[in-house]
Amino acid sequence: MPKVGAFYGVGVGPGDPDLITVKAVKILNQVDLVFTASSSANEYSLARQIGLKYLKAGVPLQNLPFPMTEDDQALKAAWRQNATDIAEILRSGRSAAFLTLGDCLTYSTYAYLLPVLTEIIPAAPIISVPGITSYQQAAARLNRPLVMTKESLAIISGGGDEAKFGTLLDQSDNVVIMKMYRGRDQIVETLRKKGLAAKTALCSQLDLPGEKIVDGLDQDLTDPTTYFSLMLVTKRD
Ligand SMILES: C[S@@+](CC[C@H](N)C(=O)[O-])C[C@H]1O[C@@H](n2cnc3c(N)ncnc32)[C@H](O)[C@@H]1O
Repeated sequence: MPKVGAFYGVGVGPGDPDLITVKAVKILNQVDLVFTASSSANEYSLARQIGLKYLKAGVPLQNLPFPMTEDDQALKAAWRQNATDIAEILRSGRSAAFLTLGDCLTYSTYAYLLPVLTEIIPAAPIISVPGITSYQQAAARLNRPLVMTKESLAIISGGGDEAKFGTLLDQSDNVVIMKMYRGRDQIVETLRKKGLAAKTALCSQLDLPGEKIVDGLDQDLTDPTTYFSLMLVTKRD
């Protein structure tokens, strides 16, 4: 029986290929196979595009489909099927990496694979390799601290529960709003009502073609906002 291969969840950073860790590069240059996810056409090609630069020559790539649905049964079936495909590789003694945009444990499809994989192949070593998140790069581009002294930071999804969203905006000193492109106008309206628009930056396509950083949402937004967009609300003066 071959030794079970190791599985690496690898965060590749949010866009700039230079924002990948040395550890991620070492792993990508060593694994026998690389998995990518296609939960959305864009995200798939971006994580893959960044990772490709660092792969060992000739290493096979395999795409895992994650359906864009809210049907719980369909989602669970897809995660199980994907975990089964990964487990088959690991059982053959090969190691594999799963590429994720930004950090692998921040709003990532990798998080759904973890428990299923642990269940179906408990002997496999699973190693999560953190990556630089998109909001860290947003703060860096703005030269704006995410948190200082005793401040708090909430990280929320723009597509989440509205009441919870309002409460977190009120209660946290600073807020990162990710996955907000669909609800942009509604979110801007809420921020304006709460007097937070001027303290919010909208960062789109960071380090990607079409990058746009709008610092202060008290001005009118004319362009549509793309999937690769987030907001940073920083309440301090
Ligand atoms: C599924 S989440 C992935 C988050 C990722 N794991 C991370 O650590 O940043 C996708 C969201 O991340 C944010 N995002 C990722 N890359 C980005 C970029 N280059 N510019 C702006 N926002 C980005 C956007 O809010 C997007 O909707």
